[in-house]
Amino acid sequence: MDHLHFAQSFREAAPYIQYLRGKTIVIGIASNLLDNATLNEMATDFNLIAALGVRLVLVHGCSTQINALCQEHKHQISFHQHRRITDLTVLHYAKQVCGQIQFDLQAALSLGYTHAPQKPPRLRTVTGNYLTAKPLGVLDGMDMQYTGMVRKVDTQAIVQSLDTQAIVIVSPISASPIGQSYNLAMPDTARAVAVALQAEKLIFLTEDSGILNPQKQLISNLTVQEAEQLLTQDLPLFHQQVLLSNAIEALNHHISRVHILSGRENGSLIKELFTRQGTGTSIAQNSFIQIRPAHERDIADIISLIRPLENRGILVRRSKSYLEDHIREFSLLEHDNQIYGCVALKTFADAKDSAELACLVVSDRIRDAGYGDRLLTHVINEAKKQNKTKLFALSTQTADWFLEHGFQAAQLNDLPASRQQEYHQSARQSKIFILPL
Ligand SMILES: CC(C)(COP(=O)(O)OP(=O)(O)OC[C@H]1O[C@@H](n2cnc3c(N)ncnc32)[C@H](O)[C@@H]1OP(=O)(O)O)[C@@H](O)C(=O)NCCC(=O)NCCS
Repeated sequence: MDHLHFAQSFREAAPYIQYLRGKTIVIGIASNLLDNATLNEMATDFNLIAALGVRLVLVHGCSTQINALCQEHKHQISFHQHRRITDLTVLHYAKQVCGQIQFDLQAALSLGYTHAPQKPPRLRTVTGNYLTAKPLGVLDGMDMQYTGMVRKVDTQAIVQSLDTQAIVIVSPISASPIGQSYNLAMPDTARAVAVALQAEKLIFLTEDSGILNPQKQLISNLTVQEAEQLLTQDLPLFHQQVLLSNAIEALNHHISRVHILSGRENGSLIKELFTRQGTGTSIAQNSFIQIRPAHERDIADIISLIRPLENRGILVRRSKSYLEDHIREFSLLEHDNQIYGCVALKTFADAKDSAELACLVVSDRIRDAGYGDRLLTHVINEAKKQNKTKLFALSTQTADWFLEHGFQAAQLNDLPASRQQEYHQSARQSKIFILPL
């Protein structure tokens, strides 16, 4: 990576670092990611995130390891409604593998930075009896035996540990008040811990790149409403339904954002937390202001939004007939049937990998509240869906805004040939910016 690239990535990350400092993040780790190589890569990132001042709670799964022990000892693996039935032998295996995983996690987290300018402070990890469990009981006549769920979370104990800058490790096994241990599911446990702590974020690290739609394509953003709708469809993978329902439950209990992403892809967690684009699926409560595709009936509203800026030379003039012909390129920021912003995504027949962000406007009634940033994120996601790898923007007066949002200055010959021609025909002398996607 050249120095400019590095500096740009670092600048992009800085506001996210500042925002997350002192915030609590609960990370649920799928059991199939806990092999040595992936565990060490994830631990490096957990270490880094904790060093940046984020309060981290890690909740690990143990299903894969229990299955391996059952197979080794030829013990039958039984499920009911996709939940494991935990008999005494499985409970014994669960305790065994949770102990092993805890030690492996602690060992992986102990790997310090080899190239630190000073000896870094020793990173602490703590585990404890943070959870109280209760049995799942009998489901449709099936006794789930020692399969349980979280009854209570000792938030005070977790907060005290986090206050000492330790990373808290929670295992999906816990006792009831009468001293009986129960085997818990990782997603339910991580969600219960995040809700009890009112964490800033709940993150699930999985084998998949995020939530996949029925066509097995990654969905980058979901509102709770969309997630609920998706649950009514046949999702390709059952464990994704479990993650999605836990995400909805967490969001309905005031967690502001849930992320589901690959724990296998090295660095994906860092990218999700510290860049605008993220990597996996991000799920949030239904937003106050929505972004939606524009229709012909919106043209009058678009014109009243953009005309004043066109008159001041900030935007290129777009006639009513131009808007009629290109309305499908536009997305609108809307609340209560009022249009507060717009953006267009233009594509080029002669450059399939490129797209242009154009006509980005936020009404001055709601400026500086992050809506420009949201329109940009929307356009980036739309461009990525169309497999574009470059996003251009041309501007006369908004250069700094684009640079601050990760764009780099570009040259005329970086534009698709057809766009270069258009540029020559205009006297605007706009500056050109490019964002690699
Ligand atoms: C550029 C624009 C879309 C940003 O919308 P927004 O919702 O206010 O953007 P955000 O809230 O995400 O960002 C606000 C930040 O950008 C800064 N900003 C706004 N316009 C800027 C400009 N022209 N140059 C540099 N920075 C600018 C604001 O000062 C604010 O900075 P702060 O966070 O340090 O206070 C909006 O200012 C606008 O509609 N401008 C007129 C149209 C335009 O220039 N479009 C781009 C050409 S296609």
